[in-house]
Amino acid sequence: MVDLSKFIREIPDYPKPGILFRDITPMLADPEALAAAAKAMAEPYVGEKIDIVAAAEARGFIFAAPLAIQLGAGFVPIRKPGKLPFDLHSFAYELEYGTDELQIHVDGVKPGQRVLLIDDLLATGGTMEACCRLLERCDAEIVGCSFLIHLAQLGGEDRLNPYKCHSVLTYDQDDLENEL
Ligand code: PRP
Ligand code: MG
Repeated sequence: MVDLSKFIREIPDYPKPGILFRDITPMLADPEALAAAAKAMAEPYVGEKIDIVAAAEARGFIFAAPLAIQLGAGFVPIRKPGKLPFDLHSFAYELEYGTDELQIHVDGVKPGQRVLLIDDLLATGGTMEACCRLLERCDAEIVGCSFLIHLAQLGGEDRLNPYKCHSVLTYDQDDLENEL
């Protein structure tokens, strides 16, 4: 059994002072850890008849294709504006400073298809909430949301209610500044 937490590198004061960045690149570079991470993210959904795994760029993409292959599903990308060429659903959401926007092709997911949403990290939940809203506009059935890392004190899981969340690694931090 691989201890995935050993492959998450902590970088203090990145990208700005007071933030503890959890860097997954050592885990991605290790063949056993990478395989174990993708397997653990998929594990609760094996046998759930997932049609589509959907994820937001960029870090979500890293895990989305291996999970789709494991689950016998397709992959649908959710992207920043200007990246997808066909007709789109868009959802704008608030950041600490300013707004961001994510988009999906209108025909990426068909009505009623069973979708697993995934990302590397659940922090405030803003990114995944935007993904959920986009899949709702496609009339998809959201089976759940799977993450590698969950920063539990930032309230992301509440924000995603009523959707079921699964995380491989959970960090309960006293320092609410520690994020992303
Ligand atoms: C990071 C991470 C998640 C999101 C989590 O993405 O990959 O998608 O933040 O934070 P939240 O729960 O507060 O929304 P980021 O937007 O930094 O970009 P990247 O994936 O392109 O690196
Ligand atoms: Mg991201």
